[in-house]
Amino acid sequence: MDKRLATPTDLKAADVSKLSEALNRLVADSFALYTKYKNFHWHLSGPRFRSLHLLFDEHAAAIFGSIDTLAERVRRVGGTTIRSIGQISELQTISDNNADFVPPTAMVTELMNDNRSMVKALRETHRIADDAEDFATASELEPLIDAAENRAWFLFELSQEDANGTNDRAVGK
Ligand SMILES: [Fe+2]
Repeated sequence: MDKRLATPTDLKAADVSKLSEALNRLVADSFALYTKYKNFHWHLSGPRFRSLHLLFDEHAAAIFGSIDTLAERVRRVGGTTIRSIGQISELQTISDNNADFVPPTAMVTELMNDNRSMVKALRETHRIADDAEDFATASELEPLIDAAENRAWFLFELSQEDANGTNDRAVGK
């Protein structure tokens, strides 16, 4: 790393490296999930268009808003963060969905699972931060864990609605 970007810190170099790796993966996954939400927001179809179109945008905006927080934690502890779309695609663990058409029920399930993966990764990063005594990163992650759990909850309930037969099929699709 260029020495001019080595923000001074009392954290151990090995911890900074572990934290940066975990946080940068979260940044990459947040970009990937944000993009998938916008993809589904733009390519949604069916009778639940309005409610899901708005919900997907709300979730996308929250995820986008978290990216700067995550990336700047990396810089504050002396690491470097994402520089390009190419780097995002190397680091992302949340997969893209380039299908021509995705049924709304499949969108809801996929986003729910992606948010559950985010919760898991956020929790793992919190553990790394705790071990490193990086309490500031840990506390920044806590509301993000809650927000990802909230998104997973909403999507879970929407998928329950599908399972209970009150979905778009039930209204004649
Ligand atoms: Fe829009």
